[in-house]
Formats: sequence, structure tokens, C-alpha cells
Amino acid sequence: MPAPSFDEFVEDKSLFKNKGVLSPHFVPETLLYRENELRSVMRGIAPALRGQRATNMFLYGKTGTGKTVCVKHVLDKLMDRKSVNALSVYMNCRVYDSRYKTLQKCVSEFQPGFAKTGYSFAILYEEFLDWIEGENKDSTPKHVVIALDEIDLVKDLDSLIYSLTRSNDDLKKGSVSILGVSNKVDFKTRLSARSKSSLCETELVFNPYNAEQLQGILKQRVSDAFKEGAVTDSAINLAAAIAASENGDARYALTLLMRAGELAEKKSLKKIEDKDVEASRKAADEDAAFEVIGALPVHQQLLLYALATLPQDARYKKLLEEGGEKFYFSGEVYEQYRRISKRTGKDARTARWFREYLNDLEGAGLITTQQSGKGVRGHTTLIKPAYDSRKIKRVIDKMLFSAD
Ligand SMILES: Nc1ncnc2c1ncn2[C@@H]1O[C@H](COP(=O)(O)OP(=O)(O)OP(=O)(O)O)[C@@H](O)[C@H]1O
Ligand SMILES: [Mg+2]
Repeated sequence: MPAPSFDEFVEDKSLFKNKGVLSPHFVPETLLYRENELRSVMRGIAPALRGQRATNMFLYGKTGTGKTVCVKHVLDKLMDRKSVNALSVYMNCRVYDSRYKTLQKCVSEFQPGFAKTGYSFAILYEEFLDWIEGENKDSTPKHVVIALDEIDLVKDLDSLIYSLTRSNDDLKKGSVSILGVSNKVDFKTRLSARSKSSLCETELVFNPYNAEQLQGILKQRVSDAFKEGAVTDSAINLAAAIAASENGDARYALTLLMRAGELAEKKSLKKIEDKDVEASRKAADEDAAFEVIGALPVHQQLLLYALATLPQDARYKKLLEEGGEKFYFSGEVYEQYRRISKRTGKDARTARWFREYLNDLEGAGLITTQQSGKGVRGHTTLIKPAYDSRKIKRVIDKMLFSAD
């Protein structure tokens, strides 16, 4: 072994050059494979640059298909034109989730001097319209594009769309148009016929990316995100192939690669290879599963907890070995579930409910069950968790036991 030296610790061993490039908020200079979509959005907005109302547009597509990044890209380009008449405001409706909040955002975006709170909707609306007409200071009528990302999260959407479209009748000069974005398939069915026809003047669907396109998207960022030679081509291709098989989601592809980098770094590896991408996928799967666990009804959490805590209890370590797979007898799991319920001060449900819960948990992919067949204690259900017991325990521990 070489003598200890500071070099060992000072040297930058990071595989990343700039991790931010892989973050979901980063907007790359050029967007690949979306020329047609960009062009369509620009075409819809262009009237604003000619002093007319932009077309209302609705952008729809599965998660990670580039809707947000395309909208931001186009709005940036609009801003580059430095037009005083054609303006836009972008907001995510996760935050601005009501008619009032969206209007408040519009006013505070364009009239920062105007106090944000304490006004009724009617006053804000008047203020906004006056500003559009140019009544206040600059006497320039504006054509404003309001981009509402994740528009399905607006609680009173019909009235928001109604107010925004109606404003064009109230305006003597200038205009308002809506650029709505959503990844919810059933979203349109929740709209009134009138809102639907207003919002969907032009509709644009973003299709999932295929493996080749995802490869391209990853490669575009690799050289800025990672140090030279830190990622093998095969790891990139694998991340792209996995993401293509999971809905063609570019965000997932980028996250897989970033995570793979973090995992490789932790192990002090010099290169990100296939196995790191595999590990990254496993971690992502687990994250998703744990999110599902967090949203389960409490008795299903208790059942899962019971299953996850069985191995620690020697008395119940009667496992069934089947090609290395370990299943538990449902009777044992039920007993443990009753014990855990008691410990948390809850009344355990009956065995009939317990069977229902098993069905639900299996449906959610959190456990696997099997019928024992003859010979093993008659007919009984055998159960095993689909994820690492220690991790399941840790997650549920946090939710059920740490709050108090
Ligand atoms: N064509 C592309 N070129 C480069 N990067 C892309 C492209 N499409 C998507 N990305 C990247 O993939 C990630 C996800 O894209 P984006 O956030 O636009 O998806 P989305 O369609 O809005 O998804 P969601 O419905 O979940 O909001 C972002 O990091 C984005 O920069
Ligand atoms: Mg988005």
C-alpha cells in the first residue's frame, strides 16, 4: 500500500462534471426530436407577435415526453424577441391551483408593484384587463399567453377557462390566450363542453420517445454532465432501453443515469456500467413502491409491516424454501398482524378482511402469494414481500411509529 497522502482525499473523484444538467429543471439549448411540436406551438403563439390573439392550445402526452421543456423553450424564444406586446407567463398549477391564484400570478408577474394579497378576484381581474389594454402607464395593448402546466390540477378549472376566454370580450384592445398542458388521459372528460372547445382550439399530442430517441437525449447531455469517459455507451443504451420500455419517459432515462452515477461514485468506481444502471433501476422501482406503501390504508400498512417483521422473530421463522424463495404461511402473518395492530392500539380486522388486503397488496405488486398445494399444512396461502423486508420495515416505521 502506498504511504498515506493528502492527494488521496483532495483529488476530485467525482464522476460528474455538472450534475445539474441531468436535473428535470434544466432546459437544454436544443430539443431533439420535437421540431414538429415546437413548430406547432410557435405557430399557435405567433399571432401575438403580429398583434393578434394567440391560439388557445392544449398539449397532451404521457409523463416525460417533453411537454414542459418544449413550452419553456418556446416561451424563452418569445422572450428573446423582446416584444413589448407579445408576452407570456408560465406557471405550474401544482402551485397555482385555482382561478384566483392563477390570476394573482398573472398580476404579480406583469405588475410587480401591485400588492399581491387582499384583493378580490373582481379587482384583480379589472387590474389585469386594464394593464392588457395599456390603460395604466405604457398605453400599449398586450397579447398575453398564459401557460398553465399540469392544468388538470386547477380546482375550479371551468370557471378559470371561462374567465380567461371571456376576458377577450371585455377587452377593447389586446388579448389573452391559454396554453394548457396535461398528462392525464381522462382530463378532457372532466371539462364542460364549453371549456373543452375553448381550450382545445388546437390540440397537440406528445408521443412517448422510443429507445433510439432516448439514447440521443441522454447522449446530448452526457458530455456536459459527466467527466470524459465516465459513462460507457452500453450503460447509456441500457438506460434508454429501460426507459423506452417504461412509457418512453425521458425524465426516467435521465434519472436512471444520474442515479447510476451516484451509485458508482459511492463505490468509488471510475466508470458507470450496465450493472450500475441495473442497480439504479432497482432503486427507482423501490422508491416508486415506497410511495405506493405511503398511500396505503393503515391496515394494509400494518399487514405489510407484519410480513416485513416476521423474519426478525425467531419463533415465526418457518419458511418455505422453494428454489431459494422464502414464503410465509398466511396464518403466521395474520397472527403477527394482530400483534402489531394491538401494539399500535388498533383493532385488528377479521381474517376475511385480511384476505381482501392480501389481494389488494398483491394487485399493487407489493407482495407475492401462492397456494401451498397439498402436503404443506393442507391448503394455505403462502406469502412473501416483493421488496426487501428491512427497507419496508424502515419506511412503515417512519409512518406509523415515529410521528408520536
Ligand atoms: N426532446 C428532448 N430533448 C432533450 N431533453 C428532453 C426532451 N424531452 C424531454 N427532455 C427532458 O426530459 C425531462 C422530462 O421532460 P418534461 O419535464 O418536459 O416532461 P413532461 O412531458 O412535462 O412530463 P410531465 O407530464 O411528467 O410533466 C426533462 O429533464 C427534459 O429536459
Ligand atoms: Mg411537465
